This record gives sequence, C-alpha cells and structure tokens, in this order.
Amino acid sequence: MVKARVAVLISGTGTNMAALLYAAKAADCPYEIVLVASNNPDAAGLKLAEAEGIATFAHPHKGLSREEHDGIMHDALIAAKIEFVALAGYMRILSPDFVGKWEGRMLNIHPSLLPKYKGLHTHERAIEAGDSHGGCSVHLVTAELDDGPILGQTPVAILTGDNADRLGARVLIAEHQLYSRVLADYVARERTPDFLVQQVRERALALPEADEVVSHGMPCFGIIKGKKFAYISLDHHGDGKIALLVKISGAEEQAMLIDMNPDRYYRPAYFGDGWIAIRLDLGENDWDGIANWLAKSWRSIAPRKLAAMMDLIGEF
Ligand code: GRF
Repeated sequence: MVKARVAVLISGTGTNMAALLYAAKAADCPYEIVLVASNNPDAAGLKLAEAEGIATFAHPHKGLSREEHDGIMHDALIAAKIEFVALAGYMRILSPDFVGKWEGRMLNIHPSLLPKYKGLHTHERAIEAGDSHGGCSVHLVTAELDDGPILGQTPVAILTGDNADRLGARVLIAEHQLYSRVLADYVARERTPDFLVQQVRERALALPEADEVVSHGMPCFGIIKGKKFAYISLDHHGDGKIALLVKISGAEEQAMLIDMNPDRYYRPAYFGDGWIAIRLDLGENDWDGIANWLAKSWRSIAPRKLAAMMDLIGEF
C-alpha cells in the first residue's frame, strides 16, 4: 500500500499529533506522518516527534507577516512532499492564500460540536449554555475560522458539576480517537476506484461532445458517435492497478514517459504504442495534469471542425 504523506502542524503539547502518529504505526493505516511542523520552536510535541524519528520543522512567526510565515510553512510542506495537512492545536489564523493552496487537503480538529462554539473557551461555553453534551469535530479547513465541511464528530456527555478542565480532558480522549479515524477514511477515500473514476469523469465529460460508455468493463470516454479518447483500467486481470489510458504520439513518447517515471507510466496491454497508462492509485495525482492529458487525447481524435471550434473558444 502506498501511504498518504501527512504533515501535522502544532503549536503546543501535541497530544493529537501523538494520537495520529501512533495510529499511523499500524501496518494497515493508509497515512504516514512524515513531518511535524510548528510556529513555536519550544512546542513540546516537536521533541516527541523527533524521538519517534519523524522530521520536524519550526519557524517562529514573530516579526513576520501572516503571509510570509505561511509561505515559509508552505515551502517546508512542499519540500517534504506532503499531500495532506492535519492541524492539531496550531494556534495561527491562516492566510487565505495558504488555505487556498491546501484546499480539500487540510483538516482541523476543534473541541466542540461545530457549528456550535467556534473559537476559544468551547467547554466553558457548552457548560454555561446548559448543553447535555460537548464534543469534538474534524473538519476541512476553509478561509472562515472553524468552518468548512464537517468530516466527523464525537459527542461527549457533560456531567453534573463538570468544569471546563474536566470536560476538556474527556473531550481530548474523544479527539484522539476521532482524528485518526477520520483522517484515515479521508485519505483512503481519495484512493478508492469510485473517487478516482469520478475525478477523471468530471474532467473528461467537460470536453466538447464527450460521452461515457463501458467497454470491456472499463469506464471509457469518447466523442458522441465518434472515437474513444480515454479508458480507465481497474485492476485489469487482477494487476492491482488503477490507471488512466490516453492517446499519445507513439512509441517514442511512450518509451520516454516510462523511462522518465516507470512507477507512474506503463504500456497498456492490447492498446499498442499509441496509448500510455498513467497510474492513479499511487496518490499525489496532479489533476490539472490529468485534465491536460485528457484534452490532448481528445484533440487527437476529435473531428477537425470540432477541434477548430475548441481552438476558437480557447482564444477567449
Ligand atoms: C485540542 O483541544 C484541539 O481540539 C484544539 O487544540 C487542542 C490541541 O491539543 N484545536 P493538543 O496539542 O493536541 O494536545
């Protein structure tokens, strides 16, 4: 199994980071923690991560603009080839630019049942309001603070005479269970055939006059009543691979691509030299690149009139 590369961003104790880290030690966990980063070089969690053999990165935000500091963190994430970011007590409001760059790939854990009690002092507020339960939520990070689609929640009962510390300690136990499970499901989802086919489908069907049929059990995209420009190979003869097959110029380009990245590209059986298989099940898919492959392939089989029309539209 190719594991998803995750960075955890912390500012303090890092107990959630530790929970994610230890859950990742299971052989069947679909993610691995490859970096723990912080805006606070003294964050206790950094020492633990180091002791566990995880790379760490710290850069104080003092004297830097939000954008500058986020830029430094972003560069560290890119250098470590990070695919997903898990915020775990990272006490920084993030710039819209940083959030945009990690859209759909950055999760946060918040100690309340969102949308209730965004921000700080969540446990006090739940107790004061007379709620029966506090709890925690894992959500995708969007530009709004503690907003964004909720991926999972655990309610935690409030006991008579509870105070914020006691409730917070129990919520933390729930956080440690919830975060790893939700993160694992989220990264695994992106490797399922359904998800991958859907990503290709959206891009293929966005091309003019494209339609989808099933050919030899493979989802297949073509021009209505015309030729096919893409197939998706799903565990063909049990090869365990999921790959997009698109048209290329010929044997030379095929050999060049395979030579360049033999893990990612291969020669699809029965398709000959005019096609290349691009594996989608390795993670780190470049979906804009996939859209370009599809467009190029579409162009190579599109009737001339249609391709010319496409060119005209492209000029606007
Ligand atoms: C947790 O309560 C989390 O929900 C919030 O910050 C706290 C971090 O705690 N976002 P820790 O550093 O993981 O122990």
